[in-house]
Amino acid sequence: MATWTTRSSRVVARSSAVRPFAKRRILLGVTGGIASYKSASLARLLTQAGGEVDVVLTRSAQEFVGAITFEALTGRPVHTALIAAGHALDHIKLARAADVVVVAPATADLLARAAHGHADDLLTAALLATTAPVLIAPAMNDRMWGHPQTTRNVAHLREIGYHVIDPDTGDLAVGEGSGPGRMPEPETIMAHIGRLLETPSPLRGRRVVITAGPTREAVDPVRFLSNRSSGKMGVAIAEAAWRRGASVHLIAGPLGITPPAMLEVERVESAEQMKDAVARALASADVLVMAAAPADFRPADVAGSKIKKGAAPAAIPLSSSPDILLETAAQRRKGAIVVGFALETDDVIANAHKKLAAKGLDLIVVNDARETGAGFEGDTNRVTFIASDGSSEALPLLSKRDVGDAILDRVEALLGGR
Ligand code: CTP
Repeated sequence: MATWTTRSSRVVARSSAVRPFAKRRILLGVTGGIASYKSASLARLLTQAGGEVDVVLTRSAQEFVGAITFEALTGRPVHTALIAAGHALDHIKLARAADVVVVAPATADLLARAAHGHADDLLTAALLATTAPVLIAPAMNDRMWGHPQTTRNVAHLREIGYHVIDPDTGDLAVGEGSGPGRMPEPETIMAHIGRLLETPSPLRGRRVVITAGPTREAVDPVRFLSNRSSGKMGVAIAEAAWRRGASVHLIAGPLGITPPAMLEVERVESAEQMKDAVARALASADVLVMAAAPADFRPADVAGSKIKKGAAPAAIPLSSSPDILLETAAQRRKGAIVVGFALETDDVIANAHKKLAAKGLDLIVVNDARETGAGFEGDTNRVTFIASDGSSEALPLLSKRDVGDAILDRVEALLGGR
């Protein structure tokens, strides 16, 4: 049996990356909207993450927030003018130095000017002069966002390769009620910036289906059988796949955590529903990672009305729920990579080998349920990988985020071989 040369150095490098944007140049353009105040938090987060943040304020942004605020938060000069003595080539220099250009918030006016290739201020000139990826976070009144002109401008910017994040729905400026138009939270914008700064991955553009969390099997209309899975591992894998540029479809049972806003989540409750969702998603999936803990058993009969206290049954007869990996095997596309998990308490490795073969997996991620710091609910995990070619690798105790990355490193290697 072969043993993988350990790639845990990459894992260690990731986990020590407390400053994930170290040495990365971020050009942050701020336009004049109520949300400009949130850009100060964004500038702070980016700087704390090690980024070198060059802020460009438009004329109207300066009506909302001062250059001094950004200068104090980033420790760098703030740029405002396209034409100023001694700064004639600022737009070219800033545009060339940037690893990523971010406009947050972007007003309807900025979207219009950028969509038409204007270069009448420092920010729009820098947008034309850069070859770096561009991320735009629009924020405006909901009617302005819904206007066909804005829709067309956004569609055009996306067409030319800009990454435009849809605004959040929620409370708008005072007296304006609620609707789509709010700038996403700085943490969400940070995640998008991180995605654009990732080194290109073979997962970019691939369709990755990930399941997470437990299922609930109804006993009666108010009671269910479930297990201790929180879904943290599955969500960590989904986040890692999203960061690598994959198109992620997360199928989740009732989770103990809130998945980050940028993940598209299909909610299910029972193992039967999860099976149907996986079967549908497999038609277009390049990768399936079954990190969920679907129930193996379910009540043989579901009571139609609440079982009264006085009528407590002496036993609840159980029947098997579907084995999702087995029952959806026929729906897998040729060449799709399928990763399963194995949670074991006895004969851990031998049982995992059996599951790998029985469920037709390319890779199995093995958890010993008796280990401390591993398995359900916690933020860490200790896993062993076993691949269909018999090779294996035992990883040290890691954060679930790092385990998610290690799993996707393996998936990338497997994709490369197909
Ligand atoms: N799994 C599944 N459908 C189920 C139960 C589990 O597809 N009803 C998947 C899990 O998501 C995991 C793999 O099968 O990827 C192994 O799950 P595990 O609970 O370790 O094993 P089981 O197949 O349930 O077998 P046993 O309980 O006998 O260990």
